[in-house]
Amino acid sequence: MAEKFYITTPIYYPSDKLHIGHSYCTVATDTMARYKRLRGYDVKFLTGTDEHGQKIERIAQAQGVTPKEYVDKIVAGVKELWKELDISYDKFIRTTDDYHVAAVQKIFKQLYDQGDIYKSEYEGWYCTPCESFYTDTQLVDGKCPDCGREVERLKEESYFFRLSKYQDRLIKHIEEHPEFIQPQTRQNEMINNFLKPGLEDLCVSRTTFKWGIPVTFDDKHIVYVWVDALSNYITALGYGSDDDSEFKKYWPADVHVVGKEIVRFHTIIWPAMLMALNLPLPKQVFGHGWLIIDGGKMSKSKGNVVDPKVLVDRYGVDSIRYFLLREIAFGQDGNFTNEALIQRINSDLANDLGNLVSRTVGMIDKYFGGKLPADREETEFDASLKETAAAVTTKVDELLDKMLFSDALTEIWTLIRRANKYVDETQPWVLAKDDANKPKLANALYNLAEAIRIVSVLIQPFMPNTPKLIWEQIGVNDEAARTWDSAKVWGTLPAEIQVTKGSVIFPRIDMKKELAELEAAMKAAQAASVANQTKQAEEEKEAEEESVPEISIDDFDKIKLKVGTVIASERMKGSKKLLKNQIKIGNETRQILSGIAPNYSPEEMVGKKVIVLTNLPPRKMMGEMSYGMILVAEDENGELSIASVDKADFADGSAIS
Ligand code: ME8
Ligand code: MG
Repeated sequence: MAEKFYITTPIYYPSDKLHIGHSYCTVATDTMARYKRLRGYDVKFLTGTDEHGQKIERIAQAQGVTPKEYVDKIVAGVKELWKELDISYDKFIRTTDDYHVAAVQKIFKQLYDQGDIYKSEYEGWYCTPCESFYTDTQLVDGKCPDCGREVERLKEESYFFRLSKYQDRLIKHIEEHPEFIQPQTRQNEMINNFLKPGLEDLCVSRTTFKWGIPVTFDDKHIVYVWVDALSNYITALGYGSDDDSEFKKYWPADVHVVGKEIVRFHTIIWPAMLMALNLPLPKQVFGHGWLIIDGGKMSKSKGNVVDPKVLVDRYGVDSIRYFLLREIAFGQDGNFTNEALIQRINSDLANDLGNLVSRTVGMIDKYFGGKLPADREETEFDASLKETAAAVTTKVDELLDKMLFSDALTEIWTLIRRANKYVDETQPWVLAKDDANKPKLANALYNLAEAIRIVSVLIQPFMPNTPKLIWEQIGVNDEAARTWDSAKVWGTLPAEIQVTKGSVIFPRIDMKKELAELEAAMKAAQAASVANQTKQAEEEKEAEEESVPEISIDDFDKIKLKVGTVIASERMKGSKKLLKNQIKIGNETRQILSGIAPNYSPEEMVGKKVIVLTNLPPRKMMGEMSYGMILVAEDENGELSIASVDKADFADGSAIS
C-alpha cells in the first residue's frame, strides 16, 4: 500500500479577492503535493477558507448582505483562481460547512468538560482587521504590531484555553523534534520569543459579534478564531463526525505550509490543542516568507496588490508558477517586481529551456527529416552530460523533500544549461557536413532529446502544462518515459524517436514595451474590480429593498392609519418640496409636513381626503413640527400620487385596517 502524505495550506480569509501572495503559498503547496504524487505517495492536499469573524461580519453589513452571502461569492472566486493556477487540491474546506461547525462545537465542549477551557474575563487591545488581542507590551507605538493600525481597548466575558499548561511539553517537543518547525530560524524564534518568556491562556470565545460558531452550552458566545480555524485540518478528514476513516488514514499531517506570521499559531496553539485532545502532532510546520512589493507585504489596504489573473492571462500559468518558486527562496521574503518576472521568463524559460527544445527539434527535423536513426556513435562529451543528469535527478529529490523549491529548480536548470553547452561542444552543424559523422550526429541529438525528456519529467510538479508540450515535440509517447523514476534512467527514450516541430513554448518578451502594457493591464484590472464591487453593492442593496420581508398581522396592527381631511395647506419657506398641511382627523387637527410640492399645489390639497400614518414620533423639519405622515405613491419617474379612500365624503378619523 502506498505511503500517505497529508499536506495543507492555511485556510484563507475571504475578506477580499486573493492576491499573488496567497497564490504563492498555494502554488508551493501544490508543487509539493504533485511531487509526492509523482513519487507514488497517496497524497491528501487540503486547502480552504476561514470564513468567520468580525471583519467578515462588518464587510457584509456594509454591503447590505448576510455574511454567508458575502463569503459565498468570494469563495467562488477563490476556487476559480485555484483552477486558473492548476492547484490540484483534493479537498476544499469552508469553515461554514456543517460538518466543520458540528465538529468544532464538539471539540470545544470536550475541552470545556475536561477543564482545558474555562470561563473568565478578557481585557486587552484589539485589532479588528487582524482579529487579534494584544497586551500593552506587544503594541508598537500604541498600534497593532502586525498591521500598524489603531487598536481598541476591549473587556469581555470569555472562555479561555489553558495554553499555559502545555508550555513545558511544547518546549520539549520542539527540542526533541528539530524537523517540527522549519526553517530552523523560525524554531529559535518560537522558543526564545514566545515559549521561554511564558505562555498566557488563550481567549477562545467572543460575545461582541455574532458571525461565528456558537458555543453549544452558552449561547452568548461564539468560538473565537483559532480554535475554529486550526481545527479545519482534522475536521476536513472527518474528525468528530460519524465517519473518521480519512482521519485515521491521513492524520497526523506530514506538513502544514503556512506564512511566517502564523507559524506561532501553528506551532504553539495548535499542538497544545492537539495535546489536549490527545491526538498526535503534525510532523512539520513550514513557515514561508512573504512576497514583498515596494518594501511591504502585499495587502489591499496598502493598495499594492498584484492580481494573479492578470499575470496568468498574459504569460500563462507555468511561467508564473516558475517565477514564484524560482525567484524566492522558500522560507525567505522576496521581492515581486514586473521586471524580475519578465527577466526570468526571457532568460530561464525562453532562452534556456525554450531554445534548447526548439534547437533540438529543429536539428532532428533538418538533418534526419524528423526521425532519428538507431545507428549511433558516442562522443567524448557524453559522459559529462549523463553525469550531470544523474546528479541533478538525485539532488532534486533531496531538495524537494526539504521543500527547497528554488534550489531544486536551479538544479534542473543546471542540466538545461549543461545540455545547451553540449550543443556547443558537439557542434551538430559541423557533424552534419560529413555523412560519415551521421552516427555521431544522431547520438548528439538523441542525448539532447533525452536530456530534455529528463528535464520535462522533473519540472512536472512546478509546471503542470509545459511537459506535455515538450512531449508532443520530442515524441515522448510512452507513459513509462514520463514517470518520476524514469528521470533517473538515461536512455529511456526509444532510439528512433519521431519529433514534431511545434510552436515556441516560451516566446521572448520585449521588456520595455511589455512593462508599460503590463502596468496598464494591472491598473485596469484594479479599476474594474473596484467598479465591480461598487456595482455589486448597489445591486445588492436594490435587491434587498425589493425583497421586503413578510410581516405578521401583529406587525401590521402596530401601524395606525386614519382617514384625514386637509383643511389648510401652504408652501414651506425655503423648500421646493415641502407643503405644510393642517389635517383634520376626526376630533383632532394635526400639522403634517409632506414632500409633495412638486406635484400638488396648496390650493389643490385643501379638501382632499388623505391617509395619515398617525403613530410616527413627532419630527422637526426646517424649523417646523410634523405629527405624522401622509401616504403617497411614487412611480418610476418620481411622479407622486396621494393615497386616498374611494368615497369623497367618507368620514375623517376613520381607522384603516
Ligand atoms: O492567516 N506573501 O489567512 P490569510 C506570502 N485565515 N504569503 C502571503 C502574503 C504575501 N504577500 N499575503 C498572505 C490567515 N500570505 C488565516 C489562516 S490557518 C488555520 C488560518 C499568506 O488569508 C499568509 O502568510 O490572512 C498566510 O499563510 C496565508 O496567505 C493566508 O493568509
Ligand atoms: Mg493573515
